[in-house]
Amino acid sequence: MLVPVRITSALVDPALLDLPWSTPLEEWPAQHLVALPQGISRHIVRFVRLGDYVYAFKETRERIAEREYDLLRALERIDFPSVEAVAVVADRQTEDGEPLESVLITRHLQFSLPYRALFSHTLRPETMSRLLDALAALIVRMHLTGFFWGDCSLSNTLFRRDAGAFAAYLVDAETGALHNSLSNGQRGEDLEIARVNIFGEALDLQAAGLLHESIDPEVVCEEVVQRYERLWHEITYEQAIEREARRDIEGRIRRLNELGFDVAEVAMSGGEDGRFLVRPKVVDAGYHTRRLLRLTGLDAEENQARKLLNDLDAYRAESDLIDEQQAAHRWLTEVFEPVVRAVPAHLRRKLEPQELFAQIIEHKWLLSEQAGRDVGMRHAVQSYLTDVLVHRPDEQAILGVEVPSLS
Ligand SMILES: Nc1ncnc2c1ncn2[C@@H]1O[C@H](COP(=O)(O)OP(=O)(O)OP(=O)(O)O)[C@@H](O)[C@H]1O
Ligand SMILES: [Mg+2]
Repeated sequence: MLVPVRITSALVDPALLDLPWSTPLEEWPAQHLVALPQGISRHIVRFVRLGDYVYAFKETRERIAEREYDLLRALERIDFPSVEAVAVVADRQTEDGEPLESVLITRHLQFSLPYRALFSHTLRPETMSRLLDALAALIVRMHLTGFFWGDCSLSNTLFRRDAGAFAAYLVDAETGALHNSLSNGQRGEDLEIARVNIFGEALDLQAAGLLHESIDPEVVCEEVVQRYERLWHEITYEQAIEREARRDIEGRIRRLNELGFDVAEVAMSGGEDGRFLVRPKVVDAGYHTRRLLRLTGLDAEENQARKLLNDLDAYRAESDLIDEQQAAHRWLTEVFEPVVRAVPAHLRRKLEPQELFAQIIEHKWLLSEQAGRDVGMRHAVQSYLTDVLVHRPDEQAILGVEVPSLS
């Protein structure tokens, strides 16, 4: 029997109407739910399978759900790494006519790891350091777009593997606000909130015995702020250069691209003693991601994309193909796809294809270094499968989502 509710949605899926909306989310029958790890939250959050996808359902007040929905949609329009809002379900009531809270539906971020899942084995300091890098980069990117988070914390962030590093995503936009740009004061306030939240979370982890003994909660939260400040400075500082030193500007732009940032324009003004003052206008991160997508249609995280592009560029140089687009197509069908296909289906669920490929080229490099010669892709794939992949903890249990297969 259909229950009357009001659904605001970008995705019209009639299956939505069949869900038990007159029951509080906490009491939904298991048949609708998927058990996946989640961060700490004040609201009730459940993962629900609808068709081929898994969604996160969060029960909250209508006004809050709508605000968060609008903000997430706005972030999506500017290509910001956040979860995707799908719908708000309002006007719910129990069978006795008691009003129930609204539900915000977001798409479950595939292959994402809440930090609690990452900490489930005691985390090594290097891994911690990469998580902090990813989080700092997320906040920098956020502030560049004029977004004030207002509740930056580890549990409001999701992490995806990114070729030996991590890419961070915003999951909770409830307190956020999108401005044209942020003042230094606003940035500082946002960082202060992050510092306090992360300190608390690190203390909790320590109390639960999950924090490596060499990691100090006070240092952890301080580190996020310092990494943020360093990156922010690197991409925004004003540089004085000689009139003839065009190359200095190009060098700066290249370094920013290396860091993953795209530069839209360079603002120049005359400085003292005949020098220029130069400030690049950084538009967004995702430089390598966009280049890979444009060339191959593959959507990858920034570091994965960097590794895949290196492989593609080497392939193009070796095969003497001048046309970049043509080389990319051949690389995709002759290198990338065969490698991913060589991984048996049951092992393919451990990691997504882009991450698998990035790890295999890394493995090939290591083997070739040891052997003092190029060991070849075929050998590298075999060795990776038998020596590395089978021994990986089965992440499917953590991830719980089907990996789209290539073949
Ligand atoms: N789309 C999603 N994909 C994956 N995980 C999600 C998604 N939405 C929510 N989660 C998980 O659920 C947790 C709680 O979500 P969220 O932070 O939005 O709830 P909250 O109650 O508003 O939190 P807070 O207490 O910070 O206000 C997140 O930490 C995350 O682990
Ligand atoms: Mg939250």
